[in-house]
Amino acid sequence: MCGIVGYVGNKKACDVIIKQLKKVEYRGYDSVGLSVVNDGKITTIKTVGMVSEIEALVRDMTIEGICGIGHTRWATHGTPSVKNAHPHSTKRVAVVHNGIIENSAKLKDLLEMKGYSFDGETDTETIAKLLDLYYEGDPIETLQKVAQMLCGSYALGLVFFDTPDNLFALKKEASLIIGICDNEKFLSSDVNAVLEYTNKYYLLQDGEIAVIGKRNVTIFDKNNKEINKVENIADWKVDSQDKGIFSHFMNKEIFEQPWVVSNLINKNIKAGSPDFAVDGISDSYLKKFNRIHIVACGTARYAGLVGKNWIEKFARIPVEVTVASEFRYLLPILTKDTLVIFISQSGETADTLAAVRLVCGLGIATVGIVNVKGSSISREVDQVIFTEAGVEVAVASTKAYLAQLTVLFLLGLKLGFLNEKLTQDNLHLFCNELIDIPGHLKRFLAEGENKIKKIAKFCADFETIFFIGRGLDYLLAQEGALKLKEISYINAQAYAAGELKHGPISLVTSKVLAITLATQEHILEKTLSNASEVCARGGNILLIFKSGTVDIPKKFLKNSIELPHSEGGLMPFFLAVSLQLLAYHVACAKAIDVDKPRNLAKSVTVE
Ligand code: G6P
Repeated sequence: MCGIVGYVGNKKACDVIIKQLKKVEYRGYDSVGLSVVNDGKITTIKTVGMVSEIEALVRDMTIEGICGIGHTRWATHGTPSVKNAHPHSTKRVAVVHNGIIENSAKLKDLLEMKGYSFDGETDTETIAKLLDLYYEGDPIETLQKVAQMLCGSYALGLVFFDTPDNLFALKKEASLIIGICDNEKFLSSDVNAVLEYTNKYYLLQDGEIAVIGKRNVTIFDKNNKEINKVENIADWKVDSQDKGIFSHFMNKEIFEQPWVVSNLINKNIKAGSPDFAVDGISDSYLKKFNRIHIVACGTARYAGLVGKNWIEKFARIPVEVTVASEFRYLLPILTKDTLVIFISQSGETADTLAAVRLVCGLGIATVGIVNVKGSSISREVDQVIFTEAGVEVAVASTKAYLAQLTVLFLLGLKLGFLNEKLTQDNLHLFCNELIDIPGHLKRFLAEGENKIKKIAKFCADFETIFFIGRGLDYLLAQEGALKLKEISYINAQAYAAGELKHGPISLVTSKVLAITLATQEHILEKTLSNASEVCARGGNILLIFKSGTVDIPKKFLKNSIELPHSEGGLMPFFLAVSLQLLAYHVACAKAIDVDKPRNLAKSVTVE
């Protein structure tokens, strides 16, 4: 699972490929590699680690050739090692792959019978060897034959030893695009990775095979018929990826959040009311639905849970939130009156994308809440609301989450009004409260970070941290625990505060910290009682509460974070930011590579 790139043109392929690899590194940074074809020979260089490692490796080498492929890997089959790194090659062919070949074990048996031996444990190595077995000088014929033998998902980039002027590509399910300039062409897993060179691109479809030369791209369909492809134009730009004054992208992205929320307020609030016309979504469209499913993974799903709370409260429409990897196997009840909302920062998460395809195939209405323009999910849903948060580089999602919350809050209000549960006055009131959020956030970030940094040092010594809360606080506890475990490697678990006594409390000792989220006034006392139960068993408490809350026992104020005051429904905005800062500073205190934590990838493009 991984990022794929390729280049053919007039420049040294190796140099361009390394630049392109940096753009797809968010898809995995376990290992990296490239192959360049020249003079009847394929040169392959691979290493464990990040793109910077291969850059250093090739610095003193002369790798001639104007045509090549590259790959960044997130390990699925086989450990992160040089032997498992892509490209996988023989003397005659090299291949990079994103996806999973599900019948690779069987194919391996077949190849072993034919005398091939295997260096590593990847499924991809079987593709390289199958191609080698069947190659008789016609790449297209060979690719067609091998494609028929592969089960699973794949985006493949290839070079053959005797075609130094052409790259080859084919795909099934995983995405692949070809960037087009007059005298050079680029292969990539996503559009944004080629925008530095061109905004024109072809989208490869399942079953198509592309022969990519520096001047021409020829594409054949499943029946080996040459087809005319429509050229797409990307009408957006990608911001530069620069940390500025910050030590990490995550810190920078946390501090961009007031701007992100303002941006969406400007886009989606018109005359004091939520408005999605700018995204092409009319009121009459939104009015049709009496049931909503939200489908997403990771942080995006946690945004969905908060969205459910808001939509059900404002519009009284039942909402179900499902993990994308489970959704398609649950036989969800979907009727013509159901709207399925897919939330994704990257727009490329394979589990979410598979669910999109299932629902679209059933003819059920779909809306995406997506950050990355041109991404697969944004292309495949019926309607899309872009979160306009700009490029999010750090693996741990921050500003995309807050943007998702902003869209969901406004969507909840809109549905509430359309379902006659909220009046125009209610809308104005809630929108005004949202409009105040960016200013409060800015102040909180400026004044609160140092205090949270100190508290983070105290938290960093714990090996187990609970996040507890009720209602919206519990939903934020789940996101807070995910954020902390992702980047600090502390065993962080979220529990509904009232549920602690039904099991998890047996884990409480003096070595456990329970971060208690207590911003919901109507259930404050009950949450504090649960915190007391933790204290009574020798556990430690860090309380997060909103300013102006009265009657908080002194014992809880010793370790505490005070948030700005807002209407309870909007406290998730402040809670999210405080929990992000906390996770960030705990990870820094533990000297972890915050932006690229171990074993994770920004975008997970396998199921
Ligand atoms: C990965 C990332 C998470 C992210 C999730 C969903 O697991 O590590 O931070 O929340 O994917 O990603 P998406 O791009 O679909 O929002």
